[in-house]
Amino acid sequence: MNEPQLVAALRSAGCVFAEDEARLLLDEATSPAELMAWAARRMAGEPLEQIVGWAAFAGLRIAVDPRVFVPRRRSELVVEVASRQPAALVVDLCCGTGALGAALAARWPAAEVYAADSDPVAVAGARRNLPPERVFEGDLYAALPEDLRGRVDLLVVNAPYVPTDAIATMPREARDHEHRMALDGGADGLDVQRRVAAGAPDWLSPGGRLVLETGRAQAELTAALLSAVGLATSVETDDEIGATAVLGRARTGTGGTISADPGGLAESVAEPVPSGPSQPRLDSPPRPVPVSPRRRPPSPTPSFEETPQPWPSRSV
Ligand SMILES: C[S@@+](CC[C@H](N)C(=O)[O-])C[C@H]1O[C@@H](n2cnc3c(N)ncnc32)[C@H](O)[C@@H]1O
Repeated sequence: MNEPQLVAALRSAGCVFAEDEARLLLDEATSPAELMAWAARRMAGEPLEQIVGWAAFAGLRIAVDPRVFVPRRRSELVVEVASRQPAALVVDLCCGTGALGAALAARWPAAEVYAADSDPVAVAGARRNLPPERVFEGDLYAALPEDLRGRVDLLVVNAPYVPTDAIATMPREARDHEHRMALDGGADGLDVQRRVAAGAPDWLSPGGRLVLETGRAQAELTAALLSAVGLATSVETDDEIGATAVLGRARTGTGGTISADPGGLAESVAEPVPSGPSQPRLDSPPRPVPVSPRRRPPSPTPSFEETPQPWPSRSV
């Protein structure tokens, strides 16, 4: 199948960004048979990232398995807010692929980055993007090693926050190809966030931070959840990528204030690791993505509150 034929096939299947997707599939497929199989999967509605096996996120290639939540570009706001202050011990809860943790690990190579998710398929995938011995399976904090309690400098969380009734309005890509537990936040979308907030004071170090992604319409409610457990909160937004996150900071306790640079990490902030071969290396940490749009898959499925934007502005 040549490029014009592939573009036509994808367009007839309803792919809005058929040219870009065709180029990516052609670039990534290792044989004509694989290209045909991938084209068929894409035309059946599977997310491009699950087909090629990776998503671009915060300058990295993140390995993505079928059925696992595709990291969204908007979640880069969590990374940006989290990165404003170095952290020695980081936990990515509800980690999915582990994209948030991997992005922070790439920024702070000396940091200890842990991750956890209740979905075994997501956990297996996150173990390809993060040191496998630091990725745990289980329900929220119950998955974490007990000795992390009270020591977490930075907790990054993108828990499911779509209200149950709104799932039916999401694009088919998400409804059919991402696990419902990755999307469903209960009646008001805040069920998992409530439990994340309730546990945070126990797990955060004095002065530790929680950065929690949420929906624009839910931001004040999310902030109220964090305030109610004693965290000092602020709402952060980025209109360009349609992102909202809430930052909560734990009290510093009686022992004085937290260092602005716990663990002396400021000098260890490094450039991403050198680039490797063009296929995702599934047994190695994520690597940076060339910033050429041709090498970046189109944006994953929009959230329930987003409308699709034309390529390349929806990028990544
Ligand atoms: C919206 S996805 C986000 C994944 C990843 N953090 C990201 O930003 O790409 C939510 C994730 O939370 C996980 N999850 C849902 N309920 C959970 C729970 N009670 N405990 C742990 N993980 C949970 C899902 O399996 C899913 O991987």
